[in-house]
Amino acid sequence: MKRTIRDLKDIKGKRVLLRCDFNVPLDNWGDILNANRIEAALPTITYLTQQGAKLIVCSHLGRPKGYDKFLSLFPVAVYLMKTFPNKVKFCSKVVGPEVDLAISKLHDGEILVLENLRFEKGEEENSPAFVKELCNICDIYVDDAFGVAHRKQASNYGIALKKPNAMGFLIEKELEVFDKAFKKPAHPFVAIFGGAKVDDKLNLINNVMGMADTIVIGGGMAYTFLQAEGISVGNSICSHELVNDAKEILEKAKAKGIKVLLPIDHIAEADGKVKTVRQPEIEGNFAGFDIGPKTIKMFTSEILNAKQIMWNGPVGKYEDRRFKKGTDKVAQAVAKSGAYSIVGGGDSVSAVEAAGVADKINHLSTGGGASLKLMEGKVLPAVEVIDTI
Ligand code: 3PG
Repeated sequence: MKRTIRDLKDIKGKRVLLRCDFNVPLDNWGDILNANRIEAALPTITYLTQQGAKLIVCSHLGRPKGYDKFLSLFPVAVYLMKTFPNKVKFCSKVVGPEVDLAISKLHDGEILVLENLRFEKGEEENSPAFVKELCNICDIYVDDAFGVAHRKQASNYGIALKKPNAMGFLIEKELEVFDKAFKKPAHPFVAIFGGAKVDDKLNLINNVMGMADTIVIGGGMAYTFLQAEGISVGNSICSHELVNDAKEILEKAKAKGIKVLLPIDHIAEADGKVKTVRQPEIEGNFAGFDIGPKTIKMFTSEILNAKQIMWNGPVGKYEDRRFKKGTDKVAQAVAKSGAYSIVGGGDSVSAVEAAGVADKINHLSTGGGASLKLMEGKVLPAVEVIDTI
């Protein structure tokens, strides 16, 4: 069993380095557009401060190449300052003498937020020198950065190999949810897949195939599957090199008695003209961007019968108002179904929020790539290196 922060004894007065995933969307003014990931880390932060730790909080933000003032963690520190009044300080460095000084001034139960980890080259490279610097600023390391747990970086992998460590409540909860969903699924279990890219979903569909009763496929990836069925897709996005893999999946599902639902009509566009295509085939230069009314009916009636739902990827190009209806209807059906629902992947979570039903979903995962890996049945490297008890 992996060690969690509940297993840490005598942390009062200790310097605890907490790795979070505060990779939140910011606007040009530095305002946080969605604070879900910060909110999700609050139980761990609260617990560690209540235990009297001198808490040093770190995270990456975006993918900077060196210092980038638009990707500073200062707005996140301000958010935490409002959440924990008079307890939070910010240091505009990640390691070095300023950080050492700021830590030396921390009282028990106070929080120091460090600058964006990725301003340091050694972070993404997992460089031993940077790992050493991180090790020097703490006595104990805690990982609660679920969103980045599929990566091997200095602050979530290298350091865990060198320091006494534990996972926070967020990672613990995310792992529990996926574990339960796969080991003891409630039936009927409907897995919904969407999004433009099919390549990163094939392993996932293969893994879910052993557990789900129905697999619903929408979004750009559906056209590769339609092509595999010999259905013309016009100018729709299609990964021709993966058509055979899609065919194999469809055959495997058939052999196992798993229902696979593909779109039977579409909302398509050509030269700025949008129309409803009332059959599975898309002709000419039209490209499908959303599921049509018959497909909405078919998908939602399956969803409404489910007892467990796992959803990854919008079923249309929902960021374009003309093509968001299918995803909205799917989100509403998931919310209405009463099934135990898990939504993973940044786009699907945004789609659920845009449809106004986020509060009706049982688990909104904070991980994009990390939740994909879990759905594939893989072990996350940053979790693997957490000490066992
Ligand atoms: C995410 O947003 O998926 C995580 O924060 C990981 O970010 P990364 O893909 O830039 O490593």
